[in-house]
Amino acid sequence: MNILQINSSARIEGSHSTRLAHSIVERILADNPDAPLKVRDLSRQPHPQLDEATLGALFTPPADRTPEQAARVALDDALIAEIQAADVVVLGVPMYNFGVSSQLKNWIDAITRAKVTFMYTANGPEGLLKGKKVYVALTRGGVYRNTPGDTQVPYLTTIFKFLGLTDVTFIYAEGLAMGAEAEQKALASAHAQIDEAVASAPTQIELAVAA
Ligand SMILES: Cc1cc2nc3c(=O)[nH]c(=O)nc-3n(C[C@H](O)[C@H](O)[C@H](O)COP(=O)(O)O)c2cc1C
Repeated sequence: MNILQINSSARIEGSHSTRLAHSIVERILADNPDAPLKVRDLSRQPHPQLDEATLGALFTPPADRTPEQAARVALDDALIAEIQAADVVVLGVPMYNFGVSSQLKNWIDAITRAKVTFMYTANGPEGLLKGKKVYVALTRGGVYRNTPGDTQVPYLTTIFKFLGLTDVTFIYAEGLAMGAEAEQKALASAHAQIDEAVASAPTQIELAVAA
């Protein structure tokens, strides 16, 4: 069972979402100690944005690409290969200005590729990243769960479903900027959500038996 951890805070140190993503992974590893783990830290290694040169590279047939274009596409290919290989994907997702971080958006833009991670059929779009479990640790200064202010959950649910990622569990840590007590409560609640979510997921042995 391959685990992929995506850290998408701009913070290299002291990120709540990275810490919670790490806690989810530790909890999974406790039940699956031999599971290989790949950590993609978008704060330490930001992925380049989808600009005009990148679009030019992506829409140029592989045989006709310049070395620079091939190198740019290869950066996206690496992220696609990581998620294709993963059975479990764990993301740390901070709220920035009512959206996801640009680091996470760049990752999503990189892994969303026609005929590779999704395709259009006569019946509409079909996601090609199937059979994976996704955990998302959401961290926010305020409290927006189940309100119109939470643009992240509808967005992530939509794009993940488009890619075939339909088994998504959201872990919420909200009110982190509302004082020390609120912060403590939010983190304790998030850890309880993690325990509950991971405990109810099938273990590696159960997955192997089901296969
Ligand atoms: C640039 C910036 C924008 C933010 N925007 C929001 C926001 O729109 N809503 C909110 O509830 N919190 C907002 N926050 C607070 C963060 O969501 C909170 O600090 C969270 O812990 C960030 O995750 P991290 O610790 O993993 O970096 C913002 C923080 C920063 C630095």
